[in-house]
Amino acid sequence: MEIKKICVLGAGQMGSGIAQVCAEAGYEVAMRDIEQRFIDGGMNNIRKNLARSVDKGKMSQDAADATLARVNPTLDMKEAAAEADVVVEVVLEVMDLKKQIFSELETIVPDHCLFFTNTSGLSITEMAATTKRPERFIGTHFFSPVPVMRLLEIIRGFETSDETLEIAKEWGEKIGKEVIVVNEAPAFAVNRLLCIMLNEAFFALQEGVASAKDIDRGMTLGCNHPIGPLALSDAVGLDTLLHIMQGLERELGDKYRSAPLLRQLVRAGRFGKKSGKGVYDYGSK
Ligand code: CAA
Repeated sequence: MEIKKICVLGAGQMGSGIAQVCAEAGYEVAMRDIEQRFIDGGMNNIRKNLARSVDKGKMSQDAADATLARVNPTLDMKEAAAEADVVVEVVLEVMDLKKQIFSELETIVPDHCLFFTNTSGLSITEMAATTKRPERFIGTHFFSPVPVMRLLEIIRGFETSDETLEIAKEWGEKIGKEVIVVNEAPAFAVNRLLCIMLNEAFFALQEGVASAKDIDRGMTLGCNHPIGPLALSDAVGLDTLLHIMQGLERELGDKYRSAPLLRQLVRAGRFGKKSGKGVYDYGSK
């Protein structure tokens, strides 16, 4: 099957990043969200990223204009998905919401359409089971910032067909990513390892092991990480990190218990960079 038209559901950091890399690879992309302000934010991200590439001489102005023209923002689900060969779902990490979106999509998309879900760790099999196309359903987990991070983690659900896996892998490579294929498991391969480290940084901070800055400096200087675990948690979103840890604890047990400080910060509305405050203060949003 040849993919020509892609529908991306969600225009946040991840959704707009995915829309951008698809458009750069030459696909026609409909990017849908539920409010105009989300759409505007997503289009601004894409414009900013393309302008940066032009400024750095990595892309011509014509190529940037053509990329932008391939992204069609919309609030209308039917308009976005009616002719899609692939839908990439990038809505909030809430299982019931994702299931509801896929049920709605079933009434809109063409028969051949594949469903890709960008989730940080929810069960692909459970989502797929609510659709009429579990064999054409697969997890595609991107990393933030999407245009920069090279990895695409592809997760097979219980019923995912070999053909769907091959199409998803080929697509991932075409949009410039290196693909790893992972069997379904809570939080897959990368987040299972990454998030336990991020969570541990909150335990260390609450126990007074070191200041936030020094925990972060320790991991950048001592382990060559590009950014410390607390700053990375702020970039990922503390609410997202907490969701992932709670999913891991539910499925795999106490070893994955979320740090009380992480829970407290989320309760305080300190979600990280996106809300202006997390472990660190980013000024008012
Ligand atoms: N969007 C697009 N491009 C961006 C960007 C953004 N938000 N931020 C930075 N860049 C680009 C810059 O333009 C620059 O490009 P060039 O190399 O072409 O010049 C490059 O990235 C490096 O940027 P900077 O030099 O400005 O900044 P930096 O050295 O601080 O690097 C970073 C920024 C690449 C994001 C780096 O901090 C990093 O690698 N951080 C770790 C990111 C990470 O671990 N992501 C995974 C998070 S986990 C996840 O996403 C999964 C999940 O489910 C939770």
